[in-house]
Amino acid sequence: MDELSTRLDDLRDQGLYRRLRMVSGPQGPRVVLDGTPVLLLCSNNYLGLSDHPRIREAAADAAMRWGVGSGGSRLVSGSMTIHRRLEERLATFKRTEASILFGSGYLANVGVLQALGSETSMIFSDELNHASIIDGCRASKAPTFVYRHGDLDHLEWALRTQVPQGATGKPLIVTDSVFSMDGDVAPLEGIVSLARRFGARTVVDEAHGTGCVGPGGRGAVAAAGLEREIDVIIGTLGKALGSYGAFAAGSLELTRYLVNASRPLIFSTAPAPPVVAGALAALELLESGPERVERLQQNAAVLHAALVDEGMALTTGPSHILPIVVGDATTAMTLCERLLERRVFAQAIRPPTVPEGTSRLRITVSASHTPQELRRAAQAIAEVSRELGLPVGSGPARPSITKSDDSFGEWTAAPSKSRVSARPQDGVAPTSAPAPAATRATQPTGSAFFDVEQVDPSLVRASRGSGLGVRF
Ligand SMILES: Cc1ncc(COP(=O)(O)O)c(C=O)c1O
Repeated sequence: MDELSTRLDDLRDQGLYRRLRMVSGPQGPRVVLDGTPVLLLCSNNYLGLSDHPRIREAAADAAMRWGVGSGGSRLVSGSMTIHRRLEERLATFKRTEASILFGSGYLANVGVLQALGSETSMIFSDELNHASIIDGCRASKAPTFVYRHGDLDHLEWALRTQVPQGATGKPLIVTDSVFSMDGDVAPLEGIVSLARRFGARTVVDEAHGTGCVGPGGRGAVAAAGLEREIDVIIGTLGKALGSYGAFAAGSLELTRYLVNASRPLIFSTAPAPPVVAGALAALELLESGPERVERLQQNAAVLHAALVDEGMALTTGPSHILPIVVGDATTAMTLCERLLERRVFAQAIRPPTVPEGTSRLRITVSASHTPQELRRAAQAIAEVSRELGLPVGSGPARPSITKSDDSFGEWTAAPSKSRVSARPQDGVAPTSAPAPAATRATQPTGSAFFDVEQVDPSLVRASRGSGLGVRF
């Protein structure tokens, strides 16, 4: 049999096979999915802007004025005025000196981390960071230490003990702000204070914060009052802002450096005028109508309360991203299919997007859902969960890990294959984290789990020569 068929069969056997489902018409709170009208509960179109008339119009006008394509990399065929206009607008929105556009959030994370990470520095990355951050760490020349999810003690310990001897570059701490699969928020204040203490740079990915949380939707960084404290804020234009593309915001020097060093920026075609104009229009709508953000958060609260009323054992608070962790991949798919029979589409998320044993429905709400729709969805989710006899629960926002659970000494013990996991297994939400005696952390990636040594400097140096993967 052809090797690819075998690989596909393996995926099917593990309940991990994926297929594309067809949506007719624009993205909205309700869509026609594979020919059937359903309530859509898994889009990142959080503010319902992707088909807003003003944004469609702005994109169409831009196509007429500037054309559809940008023609090349901005370094080759020139930067267009519309790029500059959006960058200035985004910098004002994020209260930074400057910003620079990227083709997508994936490219922004890869491009920023590749450019900032160097052989003489080290990256510290939360274990539940998005796959694009993981790939950015891999693309950089810096060794990466993966700290336990939201665990400031572990991060502090790592900053204190794990920087390779002779490293002269600044360490770099990178985290999602609102975590994409759990909806919890990184402990940004603690991260900033550790960064100050250890002279580290901070990169915060606001893909799910921008337009969703904070004053005027300015993000979790703004909500924490840290706008002047973060070195690089990544934001995406394809989620709450309803368009496509992304940006990195920070100092003017940072953006100048990225223009000179970030490969996805240098070697890839610039964002297309219609999507840039669409994002500009979205930003204007957001700034003139911040009540959309309030509606999104009210809807998140409505869905959360309705699920609790239905008897669901949620352990996360209200958020526009709500995980219903069931554990096993096949069960998550069955739950998704049964919900579709009730015309509710909440996507099942399985490894490698989430760690093994934590497959889930990832429910997202939009400002454009009605409270009635969300209550009906909660009822359907609870009914189907009961039908399947599921021990349902929601993933932990941030489990508290105590030193008695897991002494720091153990983290430096001999390498073990066991995973550092801060997640509940099979839907059972722990009151405290599991106690791994591990020296390896595992991150889900776009293609497979990727093991990362908690770095022994000599191993890192050795791996650089040999190409072995003790770092990514
Ligand atoms: C946290 C996070 N960062 C980056 C990205 C990538 O953004 P984009 O879809 O614009 O490539 C995503 C995508 O879902 C994400 O969740």
